[in-house]
Formats: sequence, structure tokens, C-alpha cells
Amino acid sequence: MKKDWDFDEIIDRSNTGSMKWEPDVLREKFGNQRGNLLPLWVADMDFKSPFAVRQAMEKRLAHQVYGYTMPDPAYNEALISWYKRRHQWNINSKWILTSPGIVPVTNYLIQRFSKPGDNIMIQTPVYYPFAHSIISNGRSILENPLKIADGRYQMDFDDLEKKVKDPRVKVAILCSPHNPVGRVWTKEELVQFGRICLDNQVLVFADEIHCDLIMPGSKHVCFQDISQEFAQHSIAANAASKTFNIAGLQQSSLIIPNDQLRNEFSIYFETLGVGRKGTGTLFGAVATQAAYNGAEPWLDELLVYLYQNFLYLKQNLEERLPGLKVFDLEGTYLVWVDFRPLGLSSEKIIQVIEEDAGVAVDHGDWFGKNGAGFERFNIACPRSILRKAVEAVVAAFSK
Ligand SMILES: Cc1ncc(COP(=O)(O)O)c(C=O)c1O
Repeated sequence: MKKDWDFDEIIDRSNTGSMKWEPDVLREKFGNQRGNLLPLWVADMDFKSPFAVRQAMEKRLAHQVYGYTMPDPAYNEALISWYKRRHQWNINSKWILTSPGIVPVTNYLIQRFSKPGDNIMIQTPVYYPFAHSIISNGRSILENPLKIADGRYQMDFDDLEKKVKDPRVKVAILCSPHNPVGRVWTKEELVQFGRICLDNQVLVFADEIHCDLIMPGSKHVCFQDISQEFAQHSIAANAASKTFNIAGLQQSSLIIPNDQLRNEFSIYFETLGVGRKGTGTLFGAVATQAAYNGAEPWLDELLVYLYQNFLYLKQNLEERLPGLKVFDLEGTYLVWVDFRPLGLSSEKIIQVIEEDAGVAVDHGDWFGKNGAGFERFNIACPRSILRKAVEAVVAAFSK
């Protein structure tokens, strides 16, 4: 196949409403008055989407009629075939509900499967919209903080076991692979996690949006593929949005093997004014289908490029800022860095990164209070941009 991508290409994203690059957003989010920080924060990539995706969208665009559109059975087929090829998991077509972004469906799931006052379990530090969804729906956050052992983040099963005994815990959100700590959970870890949740009648919501961004040496295990029992007591969500850089198209899929749970979700979708089989968007579905069917070579090269970016970041930050710890990247393109060994307060770390280095990254305490002193770098950008950011950060802390 002819190669038609160049991950080194710089693409000007200004005036496209890009949340990552928009000066107004940078001003508001980071308190940087000039709005000119170099953005390595929110999780999208500065690369063009694959040719197969652009071509399919252009073809659909050329049709010029964009009326109400039914989910195409070929969408499910593309998704099923992708999971079989990439993850050796057999998904049954009837398990799939299409959905808008995973953030909206996290809210729907919380609304449908818990009541105000119930607890929802999350493993902090973790993707912060989970906490927003829990709080904004009047539920309480139950934290099962991750722990660092042997330089690697691990689940704290003793703590989990104690906490989920509380009958108010209705749902546990599993972030797999984990944003921001970059872990790809092993089968043994997932089995232990699932066992504890199921023994305590806690529904598992497995957010697997990053499952196709897996680095060398790691293997993603789909939670529902572990056992029939796990499949029957969980809801999984996935999307092509992170993998193929199409997050603006708002499309994801829910996988619900349990007939009753799926039926309950379908009915709830109806009360929200969404079709029984769910909803996404016309172009979101076209792009997702095209990506799964035609962009595998692009993804394989992307993963190589991302891993080289990671190695570059790790080597430079750790060698040139002694003490600083860059956690190994097993999955995602989000790199978690421990700045605490530099001996500065988390406020000072933020100030140096934003004001002196002029770089925007996600600050660790956004992901939970145990994230203070850490920073999350989004490395899905051309190497020259990453180099600029790394040089600026090293120079700022070396002063
Ligand atoms: C774990 C996780 N879930 C969900 C999302 C966003 O999902 P969506 O854009 O489909 O709402 C992200 C984006 O970074 C994420 O990291």
C-alpha cells in the first residue's frame, strides 16, 4: 500500500476551533494571558487522520444529502472484524449500541444504573471527566487510589475489597488502558478487579477508548473477553476517536452482552430522545467504519512513531533533570511524569511549566489529589513540536 502519511508534518490548527490550540481556551484553562502556550495537553493528536477516513468522508460529503441516517450494519461488521483481528475478541452484533462520545454515555450510565447519593468507584489519578460526571449527577466519588510499587502503578486490591463492601457502591469505572498513568492492565489484574466487583454486585463500566494505542511489550485484554460472567456483569465502551484522531466527530460504541442491561440502556436512550439502538453522528459512523476497515497500516506506523516520541521524552527529561521520573508508557499517548523529586511545590512546578517554559500540559491534581506534583504530557505531535516543548521544560527547570 502506498504510504500517504507523514507524522513529522506540522499542521496549522489555528482558527479551526481546536480546543487544544485555541488561545481563548488556553487563557481560561491555564491562566496564561497571552494564550500562546505550546499545547501538549488535551488528548487529541496533531496528525492528519488516515487517508481511508478522509476519503470515506469526502465520498459521503459529495453525496450532498445528509438527512436522518440509520446505523449501517456495515458499521457493526467493521467493529467486529477489528476486534477480532486486533484483540482476538468475538463481539456479537446484537451487543452493540452506538453512542455519542464516551463522556456523554458515562453520564447516561451513571443516571440509569445508580441513584442520587449512591457511590461510584474510580481509581485515581484518573481521567477527570469521570469525577465531573459523578458529581454533576449527584452521586458520590469513592476513590480506590492506585499505588506505586516498584516504580509502576498498581491497583490496590485490599482497599478495593474493603470499599466495595459498602452497598451504596453501584458502579466501578475501569479505565483500561489507564489515563493518565499509561498502564495496560494485565489479565491477572483485571481478573482480580472484576472478581472483587462482581462478588459485591458492583457493575463494571470498562472504558476501553485507548485499547488500540498499545506500546511494545504490552497486550490489551478486553475486560468482557475474560469470562462469560464478566461479560454479563459489565458494560464496555470503545471508540475509534483517540486511535484515528476523529474525536470531534462524537462517535463511540457500547458493548453490552447482557440482554437485560442492554435493554435497560436502550429504554433509557429512548427517554433521552435517542434511538433504541443509540446514536452517534452520520460522519462519526462513516469515519469509524472506514478507519477500522482501511487504516490498520497507518495505525501500526503511528504506534512506532509515538513510542519513539515517548523514548525521546523519557531520555531527555530523566537525564537532564535528574530525579524526575517518567513512568513507562504501556498504552495511550499520554505520559505521566513525577516532578516531586525536584523538591518544588506543585504550584511552583505548574508555574515553571506554564510561565517559564510556556508549555500547556494537564496538571496532575486535575486527576485526583494524589496526582499533585505530577504532569501529563500528550506526545501525539510531530517530533519537532515535542522537542521544542522538552527543550523549554528542561531549560526552565535548569535555571
Ligand atoms: C479514558 C477516556 N475516556 C473517554 C475520553 C473521551 O471520550 P469522548 O471524546 O468519546 O467523549 C477520553 C479522552 O481523553 C479518555 O481518556
